Amino acid sequence: MGNPMTISPQFVTEAGQDALSDSARNHLWMHFTRHSVYYEGHNVPIIVRGEGCYIYDDRGRRYFDGLAGLFTVQAGHGRKELAEAAARQAEQLAFFPLWSYAHPTAIELAERLAHYAPGDLNRIFFTTGGGEAVETAWKVAKQFFKLTGRPNKTKVISRNIAYHGTPHGALSITGIPPAKEPFEPLVPGAVKVPNTNFYRAPEHLRDDEKSFGIWAADRIAEAIEFEGPDTVAAVFLEPVQNSGGCFPPPPGYLERVREICDRYDVLMVADETINAFGRIGDMFAMSRYQVTPDIITTAKGLTSGYSPLGCMIASDRIFEPFKYGTTSFLHGFTFGGHPVSTAVALANLDIFEREDLNGHVRRNEGAFYSTLSKLKDLPIVGDVRGAGYFYGIELVKDKVTRETFNDDEAERLLRGFLSKALFDSGLYCRADDRGDPVIQLAPPLIAGQAEFDEIEQILRSVLTEAWSIL
Ligand SMILES: Cc1ncc(COP(=O)(O)O)c(C=O)c1O
Repeated sequence: MGNPMTISPQFVTEAGQDALSDSARNHLWMHFTRHSVYYEGHNVPIIVRGEGCYIYDDRGRRYFDGLAGLFTVQAGHGRKELAEAAARQAEQLAFFPLWSYAHPTAIELAERLAHYAPGDLNRIFFTTGGGEAVETAWKVAKQFFKLTGRPNKTKVISRNIAYHGTPHGALSITGIPPAKEPFEPLVPGAVKVPNTNFYRAPEHLRDDEKSFGIWAADRIAEAIEFEGPDTVAAVFLEPVQNSGGCFPPPPGYLERVREICDRYDVLMVADETINAFGRIGDMFAMSRYQVTPDIITTAKGLTSGYSPLGCMIASDRIFEPFKYGTTSFLHGFTFGGHPVSTAVALANLDIFEREDLNGHVRRNEGAFYSTLSKLKDLPIVGDVRGAGYFYGIELVKDKVTRETFNDDEAERLLRGFLSKALFDSGLYCRADDRGDPVIQLAPPLIAGQAEFDEIEQILRSVLTEAWSIL
């Protein structure tokens, strides 16, 4: 089987001579990419322009952006006002670090994020992306416990198949073994527990989502007990887990995890790198689920991808011991909280307010779900799940037994056929097998029924063909 972390070569176009593609093949080291594909006569796909929900390649072909770039372009492509906000800020002050100094857009954005964040999560540490935010949160958790007299609380708990980023610490927290193996040894002390994939719940819990949620949450308590509560610093989880194909929290699950964290004095970290900024219909998914974590990590949709930015948001309680004497958090990034990015984020949040993007998602998520659910009449579609504008479609060999594909079949299905066929049919989305094979959809938040129908029609035709060639 190919490394499931490799992005499927769905971007393959016909072979041909193309100067830009040749140059990419020769010099660009693409992320999570199986480069051999581009030495086998295929061109590197080159996306040159975006407008609303659509992207265009260098041959002028149009594709529906079913993944908002990479779960990022919430407000849609081609927003002039975001480009203008970046240009204005670059003219005024292109760069200054947040190392003991501040600049106005970082201050204004921090205050605004504190206002949106649940509970007393009022302290914002800026990064350039999600992995850095996760890395930051683990380090904060460790130092917090050292400062408050519990220096052995250093371990972290996270969930199987979850992706939390590529820095060494974040990769330790990640629960995808093939993504970790090439880089081991990683940071020790990262323990894994079950995720909330209800479709793959233990047999005896398959009819009762609530009991499944309690069972899954209690595995966290069990892991804390097993490791020793005085050694565990934090639990990291996404409210709706992306990797594996959009696992929403069962009813009562997040509340139960909150209780367990309180019981054992363990920090609850919600990794909202994808979930925040409207993806689940609220600024933060944890607000929608009405549970307040100790820390939120986020990135991506904060600027709708118009400039790189992430952050860690900590509660007043976590920041408290960092306020005194000679204490400081010896951690930072040159470009964390970059003035251009923070200016773009403010303009992006203005769009969220003016166009009520969160309300739009809440009003339309049901229609999106029911449109995708029509695909359940296909023999290959086992499950459709998710929340907001964030869905996974699990593909199976047998709907009745829920039998999945073996490694060779998954390789043939996802990389050999589906990824290319979807892209050729005008739909950019992700066919993924970090868990069981799924198709993932997370369109820009401006999409509506016409776009849902377009997605459904393309998927119906490509999945029908996929079944016939299996
Ligand atoms: C939940 C989660 N955490 C962390 C990351 C890493 O973010 P970045 O690629 O910005 O470092 C991602 C990226 O997709 C993610 O989905």
